[in-house]
Parts: sequence; C-alpha cells; structure tokens
Amino acid sequence: MPQKTVYVGMSADLLHHGHLNILKVAAELGEVTVGLLTDQAIACYKRLPYLTFDERRAIVESIKGVTRVVEQTTLDYAPNLERLRPDFVVHGSDWKHGPQQATRAKVIQTISAWGGQLVEPEYTANISSTRLNAALRSVGTTPDIRMRKLRRLLGAKKIVRAMEAHNGISALLVEHTRVDTDKGPEEFDALWLSSLTDSTAKGRPDIEFVDRTSRAHTMNDILEVTTKPIIYDGDTGGPVEHFRYLVRTLERLGISAVIIEDKTGMKRNSLFGTDVAQHQEPIPIFAEKIRQGKLACVTPDFMIIARIESLILGHSVDHAMERADAFVEAGADGVMIHSRGSDGWDVAEFCTAFRAKHPHVPLVAVPTSYSHMTEDELASMGINIVIYANHLLRTAYPAMKRTAETILRHRRALEAEPDCLSIKEVLALIPGNDS
Ligand code: SPV
Ligand code: MG
Repeated sequence: MPQKTVYVGMSADLLHHGHLNILKVAAELGEVTVGLLTDQAIACYKRLPYLTFDERRAIVESIKGVTRVVEQTTLDYAPNLERLRPDFVVHGSDWKHGPQQATRAKVIQTISAWGGQLVEPEYTANISSTRLNAALRSVGTTPDIRMRKLRRLLGAKKIVRAMEAHNGISALLVEHTRVDTDKGPEEFDALWLSSLTDSTAKGRPDIEFVDRTSRAHTMNDILEVTTKPIIYDGDTGGPVEHFRYLVRTLERLGISAVIIEDKTGMKRNSLFGTDVAQHQEPIPIFAEKIRQGKLACVTPDFMIIARIESLILGHSVDHAMERADAFVEAGADGVMIHSRGSDGWDVAEFCTAFRAKHPHVPLVAVPTSYSHMTEDELASMGINIVIYANHLLRTAYPAMKRTAETILRHRRALEAEPDCLSIKEVLALIPGNDS
C-alpha cells in the first residue's frame, strides 16, 4: 500500500517544541509535506515574521520527518490541499478558537471531498509565541535586519502603515500599540521621523533649522527603544554634497528609507501650500541629487524616495507626473505624492496616472488634510505606504495644555489628576524602571 500523505501548514518563525511535536505526530501518519506560509500569507493576519521565507524554509527542510516544503501563499489552505489531496492535515488544537476558526472550517470542508482527515494534537502547554515574541522584542534588532524590513513589508502587505515619532516615548507607543479588531490584531508597521514633529517638539520652526546633528539625537533616542523600520524625513536633502553623507549615515544606522522633497531655497512646511513662498527644484538638479544618493548607498536595501510637491504648490497632475517620471528614471526607489487638498482627489488622479506607467514603484501618501480616506481606499488607489505624519504630537499638545490650564485655574494639581497617568503607571511604562 502506498504511504499515506500528510500536510502541515506553518509559519515556522519562532519554532519551538510545540511545532516539533506536531511534525512528529504528522510523520507517524505518513509522508509529510509542510506548507510554509509566505511573508504575504502571514502579514495579512499578524506581524511579519522575524525570519525571511528562505531562512524559514532552510530550517524546516532539515527537520526529521519532513519530506518536502512547499509555499503556502494564502492563509487559506484550500489551493494547496486541492492540489496535493493529502490523506491527513495536522494542526495544533489551538486554532479551534480565535481568528483561525474560519480557516480551520474551510480545511475540514475541503479535505472531506476525498475523505481526508484533520488531526489536531493538543496544544503544547508552557509555550507561548506571545511570550517568545516579547522576549525577542526585548533583545532588539540589528541595523541590517531593521533596514531590510521595509522592503519585506512592501512585498508582503497591501499597505504599510507608518506613524510619526518625535522622541523615545512616542516611539514606544508606535512600537507597542496594538488593538484587536474583528480582522485580527492591528499595529503600526513603521516609524516616520517627521521634520515637523521633531522641530515642533523642540519648539522650533520646520524650516531645516533643527540641524542634522540635532535630528540625529532624536533618531538615536528612537533607534534605542524600537525594532520597527524607520522612514526618515530628509527635508530637501540639503546640497547634493551633504545628501551623500546623509545617505551613508542613515544606511549605517539601519534606517530603511529617506524621503526628500523637490523643493529649493528656504524650506517651509508643505501644509502652508501657496500661503507662503515655496519653490520647486528644477528637475535635472533634483534628479542628480537622487542619482548621487543612490551612488552613495552601500546596500541595495536602503531606499531613497522622491517627494513631489507639485500638487502642494497648486500645479497639475501632469506637472507632478513629469517630475515622477524623471525621478524614477534617476533611480528613486519610490515616490511620495503630497497634497493638502481636502478630498484627496488630486492624489487619486496622480495615482492612476503613475500606476499606468510605473506599476511596481512604491507610492507613499500622507493623508493629513484628506484624513477621511481609509487605508483600504488608499491601497486600492495604488498607495503602498501611508504615513500618519503628525498625529501623536498633535494629540499630546492639547492634553498637556489642558493640564497646564487646570493647574493654573485651581492653584493646585488635584483637579488635573483624572487626566494624568498615575505615578504607578508612569513607573511601569518604561522597561527597566523597576530593575
Ligand atoms: C513632516 O511630517 O515633517 C512632513 C510631512 O514633511 S508635512 O508636514 O505634511 O509636510
Ligand atoms: Mg517634513
């Protein structure tokens, strides 16, 4: 009689003895094929794995009892199961509850067509991926791994979500905030090091006055307490001779991308639009800055993203497209289209034109003025990265102001207490306070 066939779907990122137990049970039933979930399949319901697909495959292939590893490109097992028609599917019993219930039901329904059976070994006690995750986070990351992560996320997710951080504590919020929704857990994928919020937090105007050294201090504070990829707001990038050094610095530190805007002269914040004098750099000069920046890169992983200010300055989508074409031609790894329009239609129109010519170049949007647009809408327009550019700072300020006013009004702090984190909570907030 031919040997029975067994299918095991897994991510195999934080591999532990619970997984080995499942593979052992599977091997006792027959010849084991592991359907290894791709980054894309995993990222649609939880965070991107620490290890790349190839790294995970190399590990699983060498486990005793595993005959072959195939890609599982969706969370849904059905396509692989219909192709392989295994006699058994083996999965830990934990998926009977929680977000994977629907996936499980579909597996049962699919394999029933050929009399396949689902075997569910008891979930191994005393091991928790959540605990392993927390432990790994406390170990941190390396510049290389962090830098490469943005490109991996772009390959794996429909839209990558970045939130601004302007100091250690706001960065901790971006790193750790997580909510459970009916679609599964949601968190931010990356950090945006905004020039506006860094300058504002220092009480300074956003005119490239907060210099590189000072921005580097903020960046270092943020690097220290996070593991997520970082997109750096490089303002205009400065003179081309300076930009080359900036690229080297950022790449060495493990920043994933720098975004530079095609403006020249005194840089003013884009959200002033045409209310103040702002000028765009001639196309050849900015294109050369991008070219020189790319030449300065040491790895293929670091990204230089060209930010186009045409719509901000009241020009047409055609005007923006002429620039986009030239900057992509010069080697830009992505394009950020900025607008302060309140409906976002100009951005949508640009996306249509851009995607027709550059189907695969990453597109970035900053929906500050058109905040009604959802991530799904932006993704369907062709946007790959959404940046919430200033929201943590903008919420912190009114809260602090209210407390300041309450104390002045009452000549004591008691009335402000309900708005305050308790001292106990403050002390528990930062890891290491209690050690
Ligand atoms: C920033 O966050 O500093 C930006 C985006 O550059 S904007 O403020 O909209 O210009
Ligand atoms: Mg800025």
